[in-house]
Amino acid sequence: MTEDHYFTAEPASADERRERTVHLAGRDVTVETASGIFSPGHVDAGTQVLLRHLPPAPAGEVLDLGCGWGPLALAAALGTPEARVTAVDVNRRALDLVTRNAARLGVADRVRAVEPSDVDESATYAAIWSNPPIRIGKAALHDLLTTWLPRLAPGGEAWLVVQRNLGADSLARWIAEQSDDAGVPWGRIEKVASAKGFRVLRLARPVD
Ligand SMILES: C[S@@+](CC[C@H](N)C(=O)[O-])C[C@H]1O[C@@H](n2cnc3c(N)ncnc32)[C@H](O)[C@@H]1O
Repeated sequence: MTEDHYFTAEPASADERRERTVHLAGRDVTVETASGIFSPGHVDAGTQVLLRHLPPAPAGEVLDLGCGWGPLALAAALGTPEARVTAVDVNRRALDLVTRNAARLGVADRVRAVEPSDVDESATYAAIWSNPPIRIGKAALHDLLTTWLPRLAPGGEAWLVVQRNLGADSLARWIAEQSDDAGVPWGRIEKVASAKGFRVLRLARPVD
């Protein structure tokens, strides 16, 4: 199994579970990871950059788009007791890990790990946090963002981390040009930070 195939529904590699101690929401926590998912050995460098710049999760609905084993979802739930987190991924092994990690860390009642098709299409989010799957290709990535970013609630913010040399700036330009079905722009996109080869992007949806 190469990292290129972490976004498969059923990873072909042996499901070897392991424990890792990582730093999330200001504390060291031990989580379970496995082969066949994204960055099983540690919190990915891009995700670390994003976590360093994120504000606390808002009280309310938060989406972790492409959750992997759950660093962003878990950080949101651990950092904000009033946050209710939906973590989506196509990789079922990753979803199982998020569920188990949320239970292990005592936030199972506020973290729901589900396949994208199991999310109510009318749900909206006060925050969307994502280290998006750039490697699925531009068209698929645009489809993914077109599905989820318009679900930001008025006044909500989406925070994304993207590698600079994998098209962060052109993705930001593309997001700036998008509108929802009613012709309302997705919001104002800003490059909030640049570190270690990654850009942190923030999309702010105006209050209606
Ligand atoms: C770059 S990884 C980030 C994982 C995790 N958030 C982290 O920071 O370690 C992107 C994730 O998006 C998932 N993904 C790929 N296609 C997806 C889709 N269509 N819908 C939801 N998640 C998807 C991949 O399986 C992968 O776990």
